[in-house]
Amino acid sequence: MSVHKQEIKKVTTHTLHEMKQKGEKIAMLTAYDYSMARLLDSAGIDVLLVGDSASNVMAGHETTLPITLDQMIYHASSVIRAVERALVVVDLPFGSYQGNSGEALRSAIRIMKESGAHAVKLEGGAEVKESIARILTAGVPVMGHLGLTPQSIYKFGTYTVRAKEEAEATKLIEDAQLLEEAGCFAIVLEKIPANLAAKVASEVSIPVIGIGAGLDVDGQVLVMQDMLGITQDFKPRFLRRYADLQQIITDAVSNYVNDVKSKDFPNEQEQY
Ligand code: KIV
Repeated sequence: MSVHKQEIKKVTTHTLHEMKQKGEKIAMLTAYDYSMARLLDSAGIDVLLVGDSASNVMAGHETTLPITLDQMIYHASSVIRAVERALVVVDLPFGSYQGNSGEALRSAIRIMKESGAHAVKLEGGAEVKESIARILTAGVPVMGHLGLTPQSIYKFGTYTVRAKEEAEATKLIEDAQLLEEAGCFAIVLEKIPANLAAKVASEVSIPVIGIGAGLDVDGQVLVMQDMLGITQDFKPRFLRRYADLQQIITDAVSNYVNDVKSKDFPNEQEQY
């Protein structure tokens, strides 16, 4: 008797496009390591983003700026080894694509070749148009990112809602159209008014994934540590916490410490 492994239908950029057409929402989360990526993938997540937010939540930096291309490749290859179904998108880190389009292409190729990822994401609109075009020439799918773009935090000065003023909203709509024309397969919109995000999602044919961008977009993304309640100090209005892992982990570890100190662990069944 032969045992057939059940075929898993992988999520592709094409799948996401079909989901938008059918009105089926796309669920995306960040992941940075093998163990968590395995859990998220088997729980049915559509897209895993190896975000440069690893700089904050994995490495403890204030901003996303310090993380390097080598570090992103390390996180991405750990995630890729875990994933059977989800589409894995990797952020091009700050400084790896803004210089010129040749550098952007080299960075994207390193991510794809060394990690086995499926696509890259980069921040910005018109300013990065040439880099997007050049990356696409190598057959690497590109996801855009507009609105609050954390790699430009020192230009913005704060992490407050973007594009509330008309001029910035108009530029955002133009940038979204430009990203679609340039060939991006999807766009992340971060922390912008819900009605503006809805307008963008209805005007472009590629999927628009929101974070703090309301309901009327094609999907949602959150940082995994935030939605699982591992980070507790970060409390933006858009964040819904689905677990309080900080409490669960703290309780488990303090029980373990007590059991070790009171010589309750290990017991006879837990030894050889
Ligand atoms: O790096 C990241 O986690 C991101 C998401 C916030 C979209 O870019």
